[in-house]
Amino acid sequence: MTIAICPGSFDPVTKGHLDIIKRSAEIFEKVIVLVLINPAKTPTFTVEERVELLRRALAELPQESRAKIEVDSSPGLLVDYAKEHCARVAVKGLRAVTDFEYEFQQALINKKLYPEFETVFITCNSHYMYLSSTMVKQIAAEGRDVREFIPAAIYEDVMHRVYRPRPCGFSQEQK
Ligand code: PNS
Repeated sequence: MTIAICPGSFDPVTKGHLDIIKRSAEIFEKVIVLVLINPAKTPTFTVEERVELLRRALAELPQESRAKIEVDSSPGLLVDYAKEHCARVAVKGLRAVTDFEYEFQQALINKKLYPEFETVFITCNSHYMYLSSTMVKQIAAEGRDVREFIPAAIYEDVMHRVYRPRPCGFSQEQK
């Protein structure tokens, strides 16, 4: 059985992530969606919250996909988790050329640390080409509707956490 890991920050999970996870489950027998620490990012949600949001979002997938998917988290390296859980593959979604250099570097480092480990890239659905958790949070912070970008099951949680109404009379320029 080939176990694949979909690693990421998932802060929070977007419809773009869900698309990659669902397509991974169509290829591999088991998929572990793994919440990891990206030291370059300051998270909005705790690891536990991100796991919970993922679990709720994944409930929207068809049963045949859900049956193959687990959600977990780890404070350490992807490759250490992969070895412990007999996973040989990481699946990453590629949005655009801009993702490539970073993802390529990660893939090479992971291969250096764990030579049997492979990183498989899936091109993202063109509908989600521009989508990122960071952008979703920026839009939601202004009170705009982000239902198009994130699973319905986590919409209230995201708005509750990131929406910050501006004080009366506070103009765009003053912000
Ligand atoms: O969604 P992101 O932020 O692009 O995901 C990046 C992530 C979390 C997968 C990456 O930062 C990661 O693998 N973090 C765990 C630590 C690790 O294994 N780093 C790679 C070797 S330096």
